[in-house]
Amino acid sequence: MNLGLENKVAIVTAASKGLGRAVVEALLEEGAKVAFCSSNLENLNKTLQEFQAKFGNNVFAKTCDLNNENSIEEFYSAVISNFGEVNILVNNCGGPKAGYFEDMQKSDWDAGYKQVLRSAVKFTELVIPSMKKSKWGRIINITSLSVKQPVDNLLLSNVFRSGLTAFAKTLSNTYAEFGITVNNIAPGHILTERLKSLIEFRAKETGRTYEEIFSEMTNVMPVKRFGKPQELAAMAAFLASEKAAFITGTTIQVDGGMIKSLL
Ligand SMILES: NC(=O)c1ccc[n+]([C@@H]2O[C@H](COP(=O)([O-])OP(=O)(O)OC[C@H]3O[C@@H](n4cnc5c(N)ncnc54)[C@H](OP(=O)(O)O)[C@@H]3O)[C@@H](O)[C@H]2O)c1
Repeated sequence: MNLGLENKVAIVTAASKGLGRAVVEALLEEGAKVAFCSSNLENLNKTLQEFQAKFGNNVFAKTCDLNNENSIEEFYSAVISNFGEVNILVNNCGGPKAGYFEDMQKSDWDAGYKQVLRSAVKFTELVIPSMKKSKWGRIINITSLSVKQPVDNLLLSNVFRSGLTAFAKTLSNTYAEFGITVNNIAPGHILTERLKSLIEFRAKETGRTYEEIFSEMTNVMPVKRFGKPQELAAMAAFLASEKAAFITGTTIQVDGGMIKSLL
């Protein structure tokens, strides 16, 4: 299937590792020009060098702290100078602080809002004018299965990703007539550094081994394994493509059947 992504310009945020990184690679493989960011220069450069070796000048990266609007604006300006107007925006972010209600201070709420919701709103504000003008655009938010089934100790993720889902749905109505689609991908358990550190944390907390927690978590999944970042990235590439022009305002789970609800 030709996804028609050659020379489209994409931004993928929080993408030196994990899901974001896999989305960058999938879009590059389809011939798109991809700009990505993350907050740590060392992580960013390592990934950038790997991609440059394979994809040359089709990839661009610059540090950007998603919690800081000036940093987002600087990154966006650099992307425009390098590649021109943006056709595809993939909003990803690092996970907000984990914990229960009584673990959260006001500063945690403020940081969670900035990282998950405000950063996506800010990037959307930046890309919408040119997408409207060109009558084509793709906005994809990486959220979480917590929008379908809240996770008890991930309060901030539950709250702000649900907000992001409502934001996306509302925008999808407003901009459909401009050829702009807005969708969310809700990952289940996908094996990235974040998930590995979550397993390590649970192992330490419960005095069990990493392997025990790993097999307990995979056993409850219908597919009996964790997802691969590339499996989520394939969905992102499809939603970014011309082929997905009739899909908007939706949340698609990539979770190996983990969520048991009908919709
Ligand atoms: N993996 C899963 O199973 C799963 C399931 C549900 C939801 N999610 C959500 O999906 C998102 C990505 O997950 P992941 O597993 O890919 O996480 P990950 O492996 O920890 O990667 C997170 C990425 O975010 C970047 N980042 C962190 N803070 C940032 C900041 N302030 N500004 C810019 N970039 C920042 C990190 O790079 P730097 O360190 O270089 O900044 C890194 O590239 C997370 O929000 C997670 O909660 C993941």
